Amino acid sequence: MLRLDDASLYASYDPSGMLQTALGLSRQVRDAWEIGRAARLPALPRSPAHVVVAGMGGSAIGGDLLAASLGARLSVPLTVVRDSRLPRYVGPESVVIATSYSGETEETLAVTTEAQRAGATVLAITSGGRLAEMAARGGGGVVRIPAGFAPRAALGYLMVPALAALERWGLVDSCAEDVEEAARVVEEVASESGPAVPTIRNPAKRLARELTGRIPAVYAGSPELEAAARRWKCQFNENSKTLAAWNAFPELTHNETVGWGAPPEVRAVVSVIVLLGGDEPERALRRIRVTTELAFRHAAGTHEVRGRGRRALSRLLSLVQLGDLVSIYLACLRGIDPTPVEAIETVKRRMRDEA
Ligand code: F6R
Repeated sequence: MLRLDDASLYASYDPSGMLQTALGLSRQVRDAWEIGRAARLPALPRSPAHVVVAGMGGSAIGGDLLAASLGARLSVPLTVVRDSRLPRYVGPESVVIATSYSGETEETLAVTTEAQRAGATVLAITSGGRLAEMAARGGGGVVRIPAGFAPRAALGYLMVPALAALERWGLVDSCAEDVEEAARVVEEVASESGPAVPTIRNPAKRLARELTGRIPAVYAGSPELEAAARRWKCQFNENSKTLAAWNAFPELTHNETVGWGAPPEVRAVVSVIVLLGGDEPERALRRIRVTTELAFRHAAGTHEVRGRGRRALSRLLSLVQLGDLVSIYLACLRGIDPTPVEAIETVKRRMRDEA
């Protein structure tokens, strides 16, 4: 029996159940949509100029996925800030969505204070902590999401209520069908790549096996999929405890391809994963093929994975679901618990102690 087909592996290496939580993404998306639909929202400024989603790590990626899934449908620009400072243009006509799962992240708290000082409309999405208190005290809205997850495993809860808020504020057209389609395709991916499906028929387990001992370089086939590539990279970091890189076509053909001239022993440990949406124009696919032939031929391996669904949200979240599972299987293959992120906690603790 192949290692990933042995159920006892998960009991030994995944005692906190990261795999089961990841498999629940579709449920989380549906539940989070209801939470967002029911939440009390602050009133919008009279003429909202833009939306800033502020957060770090697993709480920030939801902002990238949101921006990518809505794209040109948004009636105002949406930017993601991963910093302790807000741009100076944030003021009374700004909407700031502060996302922090714990509600205790230093950078996000600092940005929320700045947003309040600037007179922006603030909506916090959090499971609690000081962020919930601050937002409520400052007259902003608070969407409370369920506690008890690792932040990165609460992606649906962190992201989807913001989508509901944008819709309810009238900054985007109806998103109900996007959410429903996304939940459905995510469910399909989970059932095809779950632990009970043997490796031979399981795309996530197979890819995890191929990546053992390698550094994954995750390349989005188009800018629309950048956020998914970044998520894959971060999940390899946090769940599999390994180095990883991400980039996107066509930008990477203007710089990173040259980096494939690295010494052979370096290239030999890097495996390329190209994320495709399935709707790439012929010329974009041609660019990917040419690059694969010229630059990636010395890689340890090149793999292509395809998102599902007609809508951007579906393509992104189906890729996220697959990547999350690959990263957890890779951790278990390495004999590592995917849940603890000691390196993140240690820096936070040191910084708190020195404050
Ligand atoms: C941990 C994780 C981290 C956190 C980040 C910010 O699972 O993914 O990237 O998301 O350290 O913490 P929160 O999300 O609590 O604001």
